[in-house]
Amino acid sequence: MELPQNHSHNHHLDFLAVTEAAALASAPWVGKGDRHNADEAACSGMRRVLNELEMCGTICIGEGERDEAPMLYIGETLGNGDGPNIQIAVDPLEGTNLCANGTPNAISVLAAVIEGEGTLMHAPDCYMEKLVTGKECRGIVDITLPPRVNVRLMAKAMGKDVDELIIGVLDRPRHEALIGEIRSAGARVHLIPDGDLSVAIAALDPDSGVDALMGVGGAPEGVITAAAVLCCGGEMQARLRFTTDDQRKRAQDMVGGDLDRVFSTRDLADGNVMFSATGITSGDLLKGVRYRRGYALTDSIIMRCKTGTIRRIETTHLLTA
Ligand code: FBP
Repeated sequence: MELPQNHSHNHHLDFLAVTEAAALASAPWVGKGDRHNADEAACSGMRRVLNELEMCGTICIGEGERDEAPMLYIGETLGNGDGPNIQIAVDPLEGTNLCANGTPNAISVLAAVIEGEGTLMHAPDCYMEKLVTGKECRGIVDITLPPRVNVRLMAKAMGKDVDELIIGVLDRPRHEALIGEIRSAGARVHLIPDGDLSVAIAALDPDSGVDALMGVGGAPEGVITAAAVLCCGGEMQARLRFTTDDQRKRAQDMVGGDLDRVFSTRDLADGNVMFSATGITSGDLLKGVRYRRGYALTDSIIMRCKTGTIRRIETTHLLTA
């Protein structure tokens, strides 16, 4: 007799152990000024646990192409080969500089979906313009409108004064006009040095102190963000941004269609997606790894679209001498 196929439950909890392992592995590098070793530690920690899982996993978003990355490259297969086929999008250390500098919002993060139960867009390594906000603004905002208009629409939908609205934006010269427009509309800007994924997910939580994320960041990070947005019922709209012709060509092969179109949450992540993130340095979304005598504490959030479950989990990890 065949057992019912309900792998997603076990896997979404298993993925918690994966981001925890990556966070614990990179935590010793926090503040050490070495982004390369921090990233490598996170990757090996994540890969070790992914390989223990009962699945035939394939990386669809990872550290790059096979020739660029020694591990967690796109197309790499992971798991013990026994369970379902699972597409996995990873960012073992989102915010490599944040970790190296010991500044807020470095996280380890993963999104996954069982093949046949949903999709994660295979995003090329280019930029993406993002507008991410909570469920009150679903169907209200429109990324093609000027930011000042979206700011007003969001404030109205959230029942706030524009002056109370806090928008996360990456601190980049390319955002000078955006920042000016948000401020002249009367809202506040939460400027972040890196880590738009963490701040975008914080914006889904009405109690986080951030109401939305706007601006251009990494496209792979955008797809992982969309998985969380889908689980939380929030709103995300995005447009791909290219800096070279090669990127556009690569996107044509990977994504296809009109590359200048607006992507909705479901274009980026759809179906029974699962999401897990663990804090490395404390930030808007999660607390970082904290060491105590003989043990370490991690703070994670895991989500499962199938049931709409969102779990916040603090774990105690015994440290072996
Ligand atoms: P890394 O972890 O790869 O360093 O990425 C951090 C990050 O700030 C992302 O959060 C963001 O989406 C992207 O880089 C922005 O890219 P850029 O630094 O080129 O503006």
